[in-house]
Amino acid sequence: MDVEKAFHMTGGVGKTSYAKNSSLQKKASDKVKHIIIQTVEELYLATTPMSIGIADLGCSSGPNTLSIIKDIFQTIQGISHKIMHHSTEFRVYFNDLPTNDFNSIFKALPEFHKLLRQDRKNGLPSIFMGGYPGSFYGRLFPNSYLHFVHSSYSLHWLSRVPPALYDEHKTPLNKGCVYICESSPSVVSQAYSLQFQEDFSLFLRSRSEELVVGGRMVLIFLGRRGPEHVDRGNSFFWEILSRSFATLVSQGEIEQDVFDSYDVHFYAPSKEEIEEEVKKEGSLKLERLEMFEMDKGEDGSESYGTQVAVAVRAIQESMISHHFGERILDSLFENYARLIDEEMAKEDIRPISFVLVLRKI
Ligand SMILES: C[S@@+](CC[C@H](N)C(=O)[O-])C[C@H]1O[C@@H](n2cnc3c(N)ncnc32)[C@H](O)[C@@H]1O
Repeated sequence: MDVEKAFHMTGGVGKTSYAKNSSLQKKASDKVKHIIIQTVEELYLATTPMSIGIADLGCSSGPNTLSIIKDIFQTIQGISHKIMHHSTEFRVYFNDLPTNDFNSIFKALPEFHKLLRQDRKNGLPSIFMGGYPGSFYGRLFPNSYLHFVHSSYSLHWLSRVPPALYDEHKTPLNKGCVYICESSPSVVSQAYSLQFQEDFSLFLRSRSEELVVGGRMVLIFLGRRGPEHVDRGNSFFWEILSRSFATLVSQGEIEQDVFDSYDVHFYAPSKEEIEEEVKKEGSLKLERLEMFEMDKGEDGSESYGTQVAVAVRAIQESMISHHFGERILDSLFENYARLIDEEMAKEDIRPISFVLVLRKI
């Protein structure tokens, strides 16, 4: 399956859209917003650009997309008036895969301009915004074009399902699991790990060329606690999704071999794997690497299982319906929500995220 063509968050603003089901990501990135703000301040004071280039990679659509841009904008405006006494021109680039719902972002821009203009006596400084479709696993921008790169909850998505998950006869090696699980042979975790190394090094190399010297990146993505690939964190959510698929197989809703040939293009790296790739690339200094847990705070009347299921559905729906057809979606995710709640009643599931601050040297 060509990920670039098939993978997209559910667009629009309907019940199952990413826009309506991305509050878990927002809650998690808010936990490290102070790091983003501090990094932007340091960057601005160190480089004092007249025109600042900002890119959000894997921006998707919905409230999260513009919210972070507003925070960055207000931070810079605050310092430029207080300290620099000049106004800065903003260039904001929204990047995602070409199938992303960029139209939803563009439609929200007039309101967003109005919001930025509020409380501003001297009118709005120049702010130019545009969509930049394409994979961030490769070059997107000209050399030395960007000052600040932000990416949240996007880099755990690989460029493809690792080809080594299938043998030379195209027989799947990870039967019964959509990601690395307890029963996966070791070639499976090796294949995922190698794909991550290839992708992440290409990402770093590409961004390094696009950033000005002194430019910064703040990257937030899912990961794992230690060397073990299987834990009661992010991998466990895929284990539960695999169980939900298995239920549909047992009910005759899907064929076993169709299930066996479905794998996610996802990888939760460890701290060491991330550090290793940054070190190998060599032109970016890792200024900060922190692990944090997402809060599970109850949201209204919905159980945690339901909150996770609607979020994962908004993310995975395009890939699952491409492989299995749309008709299984409701029962798959109802089972999934129930299985998560059952597991949570036994013992907490504790997914972790990393936040990285990188500086171009
Ligand atoms: C879960 S969403 C995160 C959206 C938003 N940043 C947030 O925090 O809510 C992940 C986004 O990454 C995008 N993405 C995944 N792989 C990508 C790639 N190779 N290049 C560009 N965008 C990619 C997906 O299309 C999706 O919109």
